[in-house]
Amino acid sequence: MRTIRASTKLSEYNVYIGNNIISQFASLFDTVPADRFVVITDQQIAKQYLLSVTKYLPPDCVDVVILDSGEQNKNFATVSKIIDDLIEKHHDRSSTLISLGGGVVGDVTGFAASIFMRGIKWIQIPTTLLAQVDASIGGKTGCNYAGVKNLLGTFYQPNAVVIDTWFLNSLPTREYNAGLAEVIKYGVACDQEFFLWLEKNIVLLRDRDPQVLLLAIERCCQTKLRIVELDEHDHGARMALNFGHTFAHALESATDFKHYLHGEAVALGMLLATELAVKLELVQSGLLARLSKLLSCLALPLQFDLEMYSVEQLCNLMLQDKKNRGAGINLILPCALGAVRVVKMNGIDCIEELFKDYVSP
Ligand code: GLY
Repeated sequence: MRTIRASTKLSEYNVYIGNNIISQFASLFDTVPADRFVVITDQQIAKQYLLSVTKYLPPDCVDVVILDSGEQNKNFATVSKIIDDLIEKHHDRSSTLISLGGGVVGDVTGFAASIFMRGIKWIQIPTTLLAQVDASIGGKTGCNYAGVKNLLGTFYQPNAVVIDTWFLNSLPTREYNAGLAEVIKYGVACDQEFFLWLEKNIVLLRDRDPQVLLLAIERCCQTKLRIVELDEHDHGARMALNFGHTFAHALESATDFKHYLHGEAVALGMLLATELAVKLELVQSGLLARLSKLLSCLALPLQFDLEMYSVEQLCNLMLQDKKNRGAGINLILPCALGAVRVVKMNGIDCIEELFKDYVSP
């Protein structure tokens, strides 16, 4: 097992990474002392993994909250449900929440932990690749609101993150590949050497080679923690990690969070952002070709495959993005392999054109 120490202005905690480290969970939970624990998970994960985790917790001190699965349930009603359950079972500041699941479970649990009694402890156990490489690290919590992705939320670091690739054994191919989109994001946005490594290892990674997978997860977590330590509140360096996400969030919102997995929307978002960067002559077209090659190896979408929304609707959603300041849209665009910059788009004409180019015939 590998331990990486996260050290931010708000807190310090360990990120444990390994393959089949579940038998060590009891000692890992001991590192976050609590009077009582509440495991928060969703229906799907509860069926597969709840008992494998609760058996490592003291039996009389565990409550469980089971949420409905899916991004469409990442809403304030779900956060309220968690808080109502905590009140009903008389939890207080000495209780610790454990999120067991993908990005949605982690984000809503972290949000509830951050606001219940002004903040209680929480441990993240991410069970999807996307959550293991991105969502569980760095303390962004929240939920969608008024049709806008992640409109509500807090920066609130967990007290430990336990990443066990054993959970990925049962992850469906579509979800696994969507997680790899976020892995590729790190290469394009901030880690040139990693992008070159990915080009060599993408087939092994796609085929879940255990060593290659662990190396990729460790590299992403290290990179993310380095960036979060520099810019915990997303005012500067951390914005690089939003590469592709402004487009992605618009696509997810416009389809009511039902059509794309988050990573699939990020794959499309990265293509759109890179195509725009090529049009603006920020980067050479070779990068777009290399990115498309990696994404197509994972059968990720390269074009929109539905027309449930209008281009105008997508642009309006992009105008509501949290990165915007004043008029216009702030986009994270690549300016070299492994480097991005914030570009303010005052008009939306060229974004409209871009969307039209990517709708499949
Ligand atoms: N998912 C991007 C970030 O945590 O900043």
